[in-house]
Amino acid sequence: MQITSFKQYEEDYKKSVENPEQFWGEVAQNFQWRKPWFKVLSWNFNEPNIKWFEGAKLNITENCLDRHLATSGDKPAIIWEPNNPEEESVTLTYKMLHERVCRFANVLKRNGAKKGDRICIYMPMVPELAIAVLACARIGAVHSVIFGGFSAKSIADRINDSQCKLVITADGAYRGNKQIPLKDVIDDALIGCPTVEKCIVLTHVRTPVSMLKGRDVWWEDEVKHVNDICEAEEMDAEDMLFILYTSGSTGKPKGVVHTCGGYMVYAGYTFSNVFNYQPGEVYFCTADIGWITGHSYIVYGPLSQGATSVLFEGIPTYPSPSRFWDIVEKHKVNTLYTAPTAIRSLMSYGEEPLNGKDLSSIRVLGSVGEPINEEAWHWFDEKIGHGKAPIVDTWWQTETGGIMISPIATVTKTKPSFATLPLPGIQPILVDENGNEIAGNGVMGNLCIKFPWPGMLRTTYGDHERCKQTYFSTYENLYFTGDGCLRDEDGYYRITGRVDDVLNVSGHRIGTAEVENAINMHAGVVESAVVGYPHDVKGQGIYAFVIYPEMHGEAELSKKDILQTVSRVIGAIAKPDKILFVTGLPKTRSGKIMRRILRKIAEGDTSNLGDTSTLLDPTVVEEIIEASKKL
Ligand code: PRX
Repeated sequence: MQITSFKQYEEDYKKSVENPEQFWGEVAQNFQWRKPWFKVLSWNFNEPNIKWFEGAKLNITENCLDRHLATSGDKPAIIWEPNNPEEESVTLTYKMLHERVCRFANVLKRNGAKKGDRICIYMPMVPELAIAVLACARIGAVHSVIFGGFSAKSIADRINDSQCKLVITADGAYRGNKQIPLKDVIDDALIGCPTVEKCIVLTHVRTPVSMLKGRDVWWEDEVKHVNDICEAEEMDAEDMLFILYTSGSTGKPKGVVHTCGGYMVYAGYTFSNVFNYQPGEVYFCTADIGWITGHSYIVYGPLSQGATSVLFEGIPTYPSPSRFWDIVEKHKVNTLYTAPTAIRSLMSYGEEPLNGKDLSSIRVLGSVGEPINEEAWHWFDEKIGHGKAPIVDTWWQTETGGIMISPIATVTKTKPSFATLPLPGIQPILVDENGNEIAGNGVMGNLCIKFPWPGMLRTTYGDHERCKQTYFSTYENLYFTGDGCLRDEDGYYRITGRVDDVLNVSGHRIGTAEVENAINMHAGVVESAVVGYPHDVKGQGIYAFVIYPEMHGEAELSKKDILQTVSRVIGAIAKPDKILFVTGLPKTRSGKIMRRILRKIAEGDTSNLGDTSTLLDPTVVEEIIEASKKL
């Protein structure tokens, strides 16, 4: 199933469009099914109703673990690199990982979990996180992983939205020289979560934690009570595999739902092809498993292909900005898949951290999460790849389950800052505001996808209407990505960024409405408006315009109070980079905030604010501009 020439890519692409069912049916043969499908695809984008591999039975963990045991049982599945480089790294072979997953799956059962139950996972980047994820899949429970940077309130909202029965967490996490009290945060969250019956706690940082009788149990104790034999639950291809919450343009994150069969095929196929993974190679994706990139390209994609996946607990700059390069050298990493924000951050330290580092093992480089600017692309290419490693700039989303538009390493000619061409099976289309197709090359428009692919979301948990409204109603019969896109003269795609009210801060998706809601929860704040602005390292920074008439104390302290509030409500990742106190916001007569104007001011470009004649009170704009100059 691996594409090895551009000619083959073109042929496969053609086939995938002309005969998608045959194409994906053949790809799916490379996986292990308990029972075959009777129909490859049924779909309509109106309801939407999408079914891949209907009637088929499988368990994704048999594909990620069991099927490799006979031939590659002793091969490393996961290499764990701890936050502290002084600590030993840990290698889990496929055999060891299989054993631990089965054992922990039995722990889940012992604690009352069964097929279909939702389980929340809030853990550091340790091997047990991958084990917890796979153990859920083993017994057919639906995992909902929450990134370790989210607050208790965010966790509670997510747990309640999907009525999780169990929580898996750890005492704490290390992030560089910081310690994050995960169990404390979970304790706060669980005060408002009546559906949670059990909480399994891994000892990691050895910080004291409270353990509630009847609810909280230790991971290490539990595994002693069970054996490591656990038959995988037979799942229908369309049974739910996981929920992953993501932000949109409304205040409330939604639970994107992925199902077992299609997701597995898509994650595995794209992993093998995009990175041109070769047996025996070491692959390192720097994402967190709390995001979709970690789900698809640390856990499910690589393991389904029998790959060796590096799991790194720490951050790129700890204990020094050489850390990634030390890891590459130490584990002889062949593929490094990271985010533009990390590249830009490391770039800012100059070449010193690279001195003496042996990066010769690197064969393929990858980028994900946000548009990569040309400067960062060239630095990555020259300093890390030494001009010899193709960069795959992979465009995709939580909702797409896997990579959609991307070069295929060693096959597709790359171009700086371009995601290049759609993968086989992906049919992108650019449309104007009214949904009319913008055909031909050298054009820009809103990016939509006009045909289903196996990894696409099926619904948003508990609210199918929301899925329909968000993705399938803007343009008839199309999946709308929310991204703007250029198709150049060569037919190459370049993603230009979101066209909705969603920010991309350090590759993390955050809704402006969510941040505004959080700011507005601060006592005394009357109203706020949040926009993004270009940020050298983060890609986008968060700029908040806040009305706070009777300020408590001085302005600087009040800003900190607001940041604290946002941290409590969402998490530290959503803290505004800039706060400007204003007395009014530019609004139309119908009361709508004109964000276009605020965006311009945040960008520092006030020369041409466009038409302001529809504003209720144009003088407010002058006042904001003056105040912004002093910030
Ligand atoms: O705007 C696009 C941007 O990230 C959004 C998806 O965010 P999320 O669901 O959190 O998933 C991120 C990891 C897959 C997209 O709508 N994005 C992602 N990859 C790229 C990108 N923008 C430009 N180039 C990319 N390679």
